[in-house]
Amino acid sequence: MLNIGVVGFGFMGRMHYRCWKGRDDAKIVAICDINENVVEDSKKAVGNVAGAEEAIDFSGINIYPDLGKMLAQEKLDVVSITLPTFLHADSTVQALETGVHVLCEKPMSLHVPECERMIAAAKDSGKILQIGHCLRFWPEWAVARQIVADGKYGKLLAASFRRLSAPPTWSHENWLMNQQRSGGVELDLHIHDSDYVQYLLGTPRAVCSFGAKGAGGGLAHIVTQYLYDDNMVITAEGGWAMAPSFGFEMSMNIILEKATIVYDCTRDPAFKVCPVDGDAFTPEVPSGDGYIRQIDHLVRLINGESLPPVTTLEQSLNSIKIVEAEKESIRTGGIVSIK
Ligand SMILES: NC(=O)c1ccc[n+]([C@@H]2O[C@H](COP(=O)([O-])OP(=O)(O)OC[C@H]3O[C@@H](n4cnc5c(N)ncnc54)[C@H](O)[C@@H]3O)[C@@H](O)[C@H]2O)c1
Repeated sequence: MLNIGVVGFGFMGRMHYRCWKGRDDAKIVAICDINENVVEDSKKAVGNVAGAEEAIDFSGINIYPDLGKMLAQEKLDVVSITLPTFLHADSTVQALETGVHVLCEKPMSLHVPECERMIAAAKDSGKILQIGHCLRFWPEWAVARQIVADGKYGKLLAASFRRLSAPPTWSHENWLMNQQRSGGVELDLHIHDSDYVQYLLGTPRAVCSFGAKGAGGGLAHIVTQYLYDDNMVITAEGGWAMAPSFGFEMSMNIILEKATIVYDCTRDPAFKVCPVDGDAFTPEVPSGDGYIRQIDHLVRLINGESLPPVTTLEQSLNSIKIVEAEKESIRTGGIVSIK
């Protein structure tokens, strides 16, 4: 039985709670949150993805306001770090140094040197650090990547990705709308697609981005073209300036020579393969969602299973570099190479 601690019990902390709670080989024994009203506040529905709203059973769970105390007093095997992004690096390193495995939410951190510090701490500790790039584990998105890799429908010609939401209003002290703390829409929301593009096609040679600024001066909406040598047209659009009644859209179109793969969470069915010859169909996908499946992957690694690497720390760091290049492209108005 793995003893689990959840650090930061907001929207994502409750999402991780749901996933850990659903396993019979893990037990949540501790929660760390600076908010002294965390029990009461956990009854409020927050976030832009369903799953974090179920009632929390706090019995048998010790609550700590401070990570150091929690790590000193509990015998933990794994912590989920679901803190605001500016706290990822320090808390991850602290947890690894006390000898626990860490699942840290995306983005890995705000800046490359902090990511490098996290990678070094993971190597020194001999513990597993996994970054929560859940889209790589999202059943339909994992199957879409497999279909592309199989090559049955020919070469990939183009792909487009969209992730659009109303402004996130739920975060602790509004940290999400603070560029210094969240990295803005590009690092918080749009990175899901930059990372998936990397997962699907490898690192682009360069990016060309355009951005619209929001009221606070940071970006509110970003569109990027990822440049590859073989003329594939790959774009991703991310924004959190949609009107509140819009809700949330995560979608993609992957255009292959002999089929188009479509996912759009606002449609039913959300997932379709449309072959050039024949009717559209929805492929079978594994059960669970990306959050459940990424935790399952981590547990299997902890148990010593040898698995194909779905996500590596170097790739998580690389996603930060790609987004940094996108920001540089917006700043300079030019194409920026990925080093
Ligand atoms: N994978 C995804 O789909 C996804 C979706 C949303 C957010 N995220 C990521 O999850 C992380 C958390 O985002 P969120 O939306 O849950 O934010 P949130 O504001 O809802 O939750 C953060 C929690 O951390 C607590 N906290 C703040 N400072 C603390 C400290 N020093 N010690 C202990 N607790 C502290 C807050 O009280 C709050 O409960 C971010 O990195 C974000 O980018 C990932």
